[in-house]
Amino acid sequence: MPLLVWNEKMETGIKSMDDQHQYWVLLMNHLHDILQVMVDKTVAEQALMGILKYTRVHFADEERLLLENNYPDYASHKKLHDDFVSQINELKKSIEQGKQSDWRSVLEVINIMSRWLKDHIQGADQKYASFLKEKGAN
Ligand SMILES: [Fe+2]
Ligand SMILES: [Fe+2]
Repeated sequence: MPLLVWNEKMETGIKSMDDQHQYWVLLMNHLHDILQVMVDKTVAEQALMGILKYTRVHFADEERLLLENNYPDYASHKKLHDDFVSQINELKKSIEQGKQSDWRSVLEVINIMSRWLKDHIQGADQKYASFLKEKGAN
């Protein structure tokens, strides 16, 4: 069973963002699948690094879009992204330092990420989507 199932509530109607969100879900599910069949911590960590990298790319692209369109809640939206990145970086650090040496710690991180991702896309991202659509973006 996939970790995250795409649903209509996650759709923003802004194509570039929907494409990135869907790819993000795909990466998360892929890592989740890996963790079901193997316990190689290195491979799991590498996949996690890939997701973190993609997360930063997506946030940067989304923030640029909001800034270009003078989104009034830009600062608070960016803060949600920044806080999330800090939280995940802390978790990543403790995995790297071996404080949580078990591969299951990677599973915990992606569980946290997937909950956040779903809530964020269905919540905060929908707010900017309404704003952008009113401005005629798609
Ligand atoms: Fe966002
Ligand atoms: Fe987003």
